[in-house]
Amino acid sequence: MKRIFSICIMVALAGATFAQDKVFSVTTSPAENTKRGMNISWATDKAITTATLEIARTNDSNWENSRKEVFHGEYCTTFDNQYSKHPNGKNFYEDVKINKYNAFVGKLRKNTVYKYRIIAGGDTSDVHYFKSSGRKNWEACIISDFHAYAPLYGRTESAMKMISTVEQYGKPFDWVLHLGDITAWGGCYSFWQQLYEEEPFKNYMWAGVNGNHDNMTRTNKGNTNKFFRDAAAYPLNGYEGELGVCYFFKYGDVLFIMLNNENMRTEEGLQAAQKWVREVVKNNPARYKVVCEHYQWFFGASGKDSQYSRWSDFFDELGISLALAGNNHIYVSTHPLYNGQVVDPGKGTVYIQTTSSDNERGSECDLEKPLEYNPRKIKFRWTEGGRTVSAMHMKVTRKKMTLTLLDRNGKVLDVTEVYPVKRK
Ligand SMILES: [Fe+2]
Repeated sequence: MKRIFSICIMVALAGATFAQDKVFSVTTSPAENTKRGMNISWATDKAITTATLEIARTNDSNWENSRKEVFHGEYCTTFDNQYSKHPNGKNFYEDVKINKYNAFVGKLRKNTVYKYRIIAGGDTSDVHYFKSSGRKNWEACIISDFHAYAPLYGRTESAMKMISTVEQYGKPFDWVLHLGDITAWGGCYSFWQQLYEEEPFKNYMWAGVNGNHDNMTRTNKGNTNKFFRDAAAYPLNGYEGELGVCYFFKYGDVLFIMLNNENMRTEEGLQAAQKWVREVVKNNPARYKVVCEHYQWFFGASGKDSQYSRWSDFFDELGISLALAGNNHIYVSTHPLYNGQVVDPGKGTVYIQTTSSDNERGSECDLEKPLEYNPRKIKFRWTEGGRTVSAMHMKVTRKKMTLTLLDRNGKVLDVTEVYPVKRK
């Protein structure tokens, strides 16, 4: 009986598809300079064309000194009519004719926690929070590959629980960095919409990279980076064809450069990306330079080069301190590397790739078996097989960045220290 009742609820929920909310998919993305600004992304039904963003400091409990700004939505059909799945497993076509809002909020005080809400069509969103940067010392949570998929809520649940585990380890952290594949099919708007209802999306700024799954439709036809672009409001400082997809921002003393692997499959695509990265590094001096992409640096099972061989000379040249990736679902961390050799801390780039975190789509790997390739470069590997969950805690000070891999119970599995790299 109980089971029949829950099935009925699921069917009802699937039919409703969050139609009751006038403001939805609210999420906080970085602005180029997170010390003074933040980008807020949300959507409304197409009948509503303007919305008010109200922002205040968290100690202003009654919103008495809040700032209100009106923003106009832009009609968006990127996700309309995409083949999808309801939570109950039923097939359907997404009906997504929305107004999309990309709101830049400037004139922020540095190193301050803010709260905001969106008011539109007589509806007020939940209160969301973020912290502007400013301190030399800050902390973040790094996670990837949870492939949110409506019929299998356990995937999202595992990842969100893992974020709570990182919160307990390093409380409070300031924001969340994701390394792609946070949805199973980025073309399915309802997956993003449901994901944005999770608490960590209300409590933190999220910065991420486009994963192959985020870029994908259910049919694998018509794949596009517009899904990733229109599901958030990333800075429009990328290069041609990649605006709002590839971007850079600074948090404290760290310059983050975010890449899109889907448009770097060819040599031409790689060259276009590297040309842009070179300019970004030249024009934005920072103590630490971090490059993020989705595809792995190494194949975790054998240790064989993957994207490492396409990027390592370039990272050597630019003095990149840390290169982060996901996708392989096997964690790999390296020693600092320069010119293909292990070097002293601060003399080369450290490469790290995350595991999956959905307790379902992990990769099997015999960790006891010696590495076939790169045994000197690779410092540590980890996976739990199919049912893998982990995330990293990142702590940054002027002296060093410390990245700690945690399992689902908060057990420390690997600690990697990363130092500023100086190049002329
Ligand atoms: Fe993945």
